[in-house]
Amino acid sequence: MDDPKATVTKDGIRIYNTTSDFDGIRKSCQVTAQILDEVAEHVAPGKTTLELEYFIAKRVEELGATSATIGYRGYSHASCISVNHVVCHGIPGDKKLKDGDVLNIDVTVIVDGWFGDSSRMYVAGSLPRKAERLIEVTHDALMIGIETVKPGNTFGDIGHAIQKFVEGNRMSVVRDFCGHGVGRVFHAPPNVLHYGRAGSGAVLEEGMIFTIEPMVNLGRADTKVLADDWTAVTRDKSLSAQFEHCVGVTASGCEIFTTSPTGKFYPTWG
Ligand code: MF3
Ligand code: CO
Ligand code: CO
Repeated sequence: MDDPKATVTKDGIRIYNTTSDFDGIRKSCQVTAQILDEVAEHVAPGKTTLELEYFIAKRVEELGATSATIGYRGYSHASCISVNHVVCHGIPGDKKLKDGDVLNIDVTVIVDGWFGDSSRMYVAGSLPRKAERLIEVTHDALMIGIETVKPGNTFGDIGHAIQKFVEGNRMSVVRDFCGHGVGRVFHAPPNVLHYGRAGSGAVLEEGMIFTIEPMVNLGRADTKVLADDWTAVTRDKSLSAQFEHCVGVTASGCEIFTTSPTGKFYPTWG
């Protein structure tokens, strides 16, 4: 499966071809982005997250893709749906969404062997003011992290920029989960931390592909995983938000592969 001629750095980070390989990952990421666009109109009070999951699983199949998460380490759904104080890896279920609930929907598809991984925030009904601020800061933190992505900068520069911005807004960055290398595998080196010291970590090189997916809490950063072994929640029950893009390092900066085809990554609603 793995190409023996492929270049891997001393940190185990794969260097992809910025023409042919970037074409491949772009396609799978655009399928994910399309599905994240389409699910938006189905998010409403009274809907269950399982109903959203059914829509997503159906669209993955109709678009000729495969879910990367069904069967992944025992996970059995095509999406993770994390409501309110759920930080990530929320399992779709039959609980109805209420007016003012905010949720992250995270989808990863495989197209021609390439993994497209992205997530965004949605709201059921009207958006509470506190959630609005959290979601805006989380989105902006991701984009500020992405702005640091160019050859010569380091992974620590990304984390540092995100942490500084989030903490400057008196919110906290989750440390228990991170972004990751992606491409022909779902989760590859490096761990992309959303906090850290400028100049630390591996140096970014043209051809690297990875996710940046900061989780931000209104309260403390601490999380715990529930007895289902997946659902991660804030320990203090405070609201949590997350956005995830998949990016590839280019000669002068980076390309975001998971941009919304209809311009609604943020806000996803409205
Ligand atoms: N999509 C998640 C990520 O961003 C991983 C979900 S794994 C699952 O890395 F099994 F929980 F779906
Ligand atoms: Co990811
Ligand atoms: Co994801």
